[in-house]
Amino acid sequence: MRRIAFINEKGGTGKTTLAVNTAAWLARERGLQVLLVDLDTQGHAGKSLGVDVRTLPRNVFHLLTEEGVRLEDVVQPTALPGLSVLPSYKEMADFPVAVAQDERRAHRLAERLAPAEAAGYQALVFDAPPSLGLTTRNILVAATEVVVPVALTYLALDGCAEMVETVRKVGEAEGRPELRVTKVVPTLYRKTALADAILERLRAYFPDALASTPLGFNVKIDEAQSHGKTIWEYAPSSRGAEMLAAIAREIDEAPTSKKKGRAPRVA
Ligand SMILES: Nc1ncnc2c1ncn2[C@@H]1O[C@H](COP(=O)(O)OP(=O)(O)O)[C@@H](O)[C@H]1O
Ligand SMILES: [Mg+2]
Repeated sequence: MRRIAFINEKGGTGKTTLAVNTAAWLARERGLQVLLVDLDTQGHAGKSLGVDVRTLPRNVFHLLTEEGVRLEDVVQPTALPGLSVLPSYKEMADFPVAVAQDERRAHRLAERLAPAEAAGYQALVFDAPPSLGLTTRNILVAATEVVVPVALTYLALDGCAEMVETVRKVGEAEGRPELRVTKVVPTLYRKTALADAILERLRAYFPDALASTPLGFNVKIDEAQSHGKTIWEYAPSSRGAEMLAAIAREIDEAPTSKKKGRAPRVA
């Protein structure tokens, strides 16, 4: 089963946009049963799919912290066949405190998602919060592939090295040597000299992992989310849909069982 995490400790880099639309693409184009797992306190993954996360009695927080809550008690269907969402909301802010006494607190998510495969899911897609704290550590233990969306701004490269290093360290510490960054996706791209210069540097750092399609700015992407729809439902023939499809395809085709190589070095 594919287990793909979208991670960046910065906010607003396109994690949720890519997680939601890649999950939807895998369901539509590959015919997979996909579970999109939101771990962010904002609950934007659910909201982007038209789920009213504020009124749900239980969400991922309850699955992670309460005995007896099962996966099927929390998962919500979406308008898209094959795509379900495990919603999150504000309660997730209390997660680190709620599990502080548990030595295996970094494994909660992996353990609670263990029945997913038997329940028929063929791919898990994780939408991470903008931090590298305990919640993201849980995601790294539960995932096997990591996608890092990097906003093409002046400070884009800051923190990239740290993120790649964190992924490697968590993989090593938690007995998940296969865990690695499979794709670095440039986002919020506008054709400027600065953006192209940053893109060049990213290409030098990540010659294999850098996605060849940057996610350029397209207002339909923002509009789709505000309507609680994926880009495929809202504006299937837009430039935004075209870019998101190309990126989803690259993520889908990224090798998942490559020989262990050295982590890319970032200066
Ligand atoms: N390519 C794009 N074109 C237009 N708006 C975008 C694009 N990518 C992201 N956005 C908008 O930018 C905001 C932040 O993106 P989001 O995916 O939520 O980032 P993150 O999850 O990393 O915080 C959202 O409102 C989203 O709709
Ligand atoms: Mg987000």
